[in-house]
Amino acid sequence: MYAKFHSIGAFVPSKILSNEDLEKMVDTSDEWILKRTGIKERRIADDDEVTSDMATKASNIAIKRAGLNKEDIDLIVCATVTPDYFNMPSTACVVADKIGIKNVQAFDISAACSGFVYALSVAKAFIESGMKKHVLIIGAEKFSSIVDYTDRATCILFGDGAGAAVISATDNKDEAIIDVHASADGSYADFLVTPAPGSVHPVSQKVIDEGLNFVQMKGNETFKLAVKTLTKDVKDILAENNIESKDIPHFVPHQANYRIIKAVGDALKMTEEQVVVTVGKYGNTSAASIPMAINDIYESGRLKRGELMLLDTFGGGLTWASALLPFAGDSFKE
Ligand code: ACO
Repeated sequence: MYAKFHSIGAFVPSKILSNEDLEKMVDTSDEWILKRTGIKERRIADDDEVTSDMATKASNIAIKRAGLNKEDIDLIVCATVTPDYFNMPSTACVVADKIGIKNVQAFDISAACSGFVYALSVAKAFIESGMKKHVLIIGAEKFSSIVDYTDRATCILFGDGAGAAVISATDNKDEAIIDVHASADGSYADFLVTPAPGSVHPVSQKVIDEGLNFVQMKGNETFKLAVKTLTKDVKDILAENNIESKDIPHFVPHQANYRIIKAVGDALKMTEEQVVVTVGKYGNTSAASIPMAINDIYESGRLKRGELMLLDTFGGGLTWASALLPFAGDSFKE
């Protein structure tokens, strides 16, 4: 039994936060943000629009595009670091309820920006072992809920959104996900951290006074490590599977910073047509970034059935992951 990437869906909040809006909030400029990150604007969820709402909308689209009924889904894995609730229930359980699936295994994955590709590796393993047939994997983030909008180093980077995919069993090897790499090095944990709430810093007045509930990042150090690690990881996955970068029509990197995307794309000798870039309009949406980018090329008609995708990502933990797979769904026709 093999696992195939059966369908994709995404939800993008309607509210736009532009660089010009940020100029009025912190000491920054459109020019600086564009030059250093490639970001022009990002989407921000409404106050009453939570992570599970965005995840549910993306999931319903993905299930419909797979031609399945919601009851066919036998596992839900939601990747998020901005869950509805930090302890319990998991966002995957909330999404199961909002979709209307009563009897399903459901859990969250915490791997920051690498979460969606981590979820893909879990779905692949569950399907190849014969335990599940149709796994709904989600990357969803309301990152604006952990961003300090007085910190110019982080608030310019992040946005909200969700993407989802159905990974299904198949006996056709041509449709199968070829390979997934997923790895971590916890010794760099302090590069990207949201110190509270958690057992280290339970909620207290100190947490609020010191803003420990907001994301903190060693941007420059993260940047350098991201370029080095990602370049090695994608080169390795291509070499191990005897595939050359010129044979990949869609390189879908994590959308954190255009300079990182460009550096890795150049190292792989990719052309502009091969590299998918959405960071300019969505910013960094963490675990949602890759499925949102796949959905973008799908809905624009660029991604066709059978075409190869190379995914790669890097995030808090530190975690990183890559995947090599054909798109095994129907081409877009809505
Ligand atoms: N506007 C204007 N100036 C700024 C801003 C801003 N928004 N932010 C920082 N600066 C200043 C700094 O204060 C610094 O000034 P100084 O030289 O006087 O000290 C200068 O700009 C340079 O700062 P750096 O941090 O060195 O800038 P850099 O070129 O590294 O860009 C950035 C910063 C965009 C954050 C970059 O480092 C980056 O993208 N890092 C990687 C992010 C990433 O990939 N994260 C992983 C995924 S996220 C996740 O997992 C959730």
